[in-house]
Amino acid sequence: MKWKCLILAVTAATAALVAGCGKQPESSSGGGSSEGKRIYNIGFSQCNLGEPWRVQMNADIKAAAEKHKDRIRVFYKDAQNRTEVQQNQVREFIQQGVDLIIISPKESVPLTKPVAEAMAKGIPVIVLDRALAGDDYTMFIGGDNREIGRQAGYHMVKILGGKGNVVELKGLMTSQPAIDRHEGFLEGIKGSDIKIIFSADCKWLEPDAQREMKSALSRFPDIDAVYAHNDPSAHGAYLAAEQEGKGREKSIKFIGIDGLPTEGVKYVREGILEATFVYPTCGAEAIEYALKILDGEDVPKQVILPTRVITKETLEREGS
Ligand code: FRU
Repeated sequence: MKWKCLILAVTAATAALVAGCGKQPESSSGGGSSEGKRIYNIGFSQCNLGEPWRVQMNADIKAAAEKHKDRIRVFYKDAQNRTEVQQNQVREFIQQGVDLIIISPKESVPLTKPVAEAMAKGIPVIVLDRALAGDDYTMFIGGDNREIGRQAGYHMVKILGGKGNVVELKGLMTSQPAIDRHEGFLEGIKGSDIKIIFSADCKWLEPDAQREMKSALSRFPDIDAVYAHNDPSAHGAYLAAEQEGKGREKSIKFIGIDGLPTEGVKYVREGILEATFVYPTCGAEAIEYALKILDGEDVPKQVILPTRVITKETLEREGS
């Protein structure tokens, strides 16, 4: 793999990657289980690390990769929620000649081309969580966002008795999960008397959700529930209601998505959220499938992971 080290050196690759490459065993024959096999370099571009769910995804990838450290080495990049930075990161990984790329893209359309460029160079790409446009990637692993939206809709119908005014705080609408969570929710509430009286693109961000909810509260005296596309937004909405000082946070029901033990589940336990829906990070699966791809095995084009609702009742039932 000497040529790869050479490319790395001239393209000002990260010191870590150069060091990693230097340590790569040659792919000659050898004795024990892992001896004689080369170590593969995987480049992982995470769209941001500002949200707990993404921090958890990185931790899950790290934990899974650690179990195979005799076979793979993962190089982490944080795009800091900037599309152009993430485009460059993919291109850097291509230049560095990594063996496989994992990407959790910020937006669908702008990341499609860099990923296609990697594919054209023969570098397999696993896309996590937010889908790209078209199908020029090796495989996609994610949750079923339309189903999550639908489940959230059914749940809303149930807790409001089929009737009420809802505020929808959407995720970034140029990312597929937000589109699917919105459309699924509409399907879920179809046929009921639930009305979405206010909606806004909160870009997955708690401060944006808090600001938008503040304006919804000032415009609408009658709000029964909030459907937020993620738990940070649901929490932001709760804070806005609390800060208004009229006690409306007690009568409004807040539903979120992600269901991390340290975030959404905790909010449910504290009575802040009525419900959250688990959104798997796909970190462990990304490593599992990366190994299969590197071993030359066939993998499915799509792996869709299930969700489940978390409420006070489900927590009590599970005794947690
Ligand atoms: C984190 C996040 C999660 C959400 C996911 C959707 O960046 O906003 O809260 O479920 O992305 O892609």
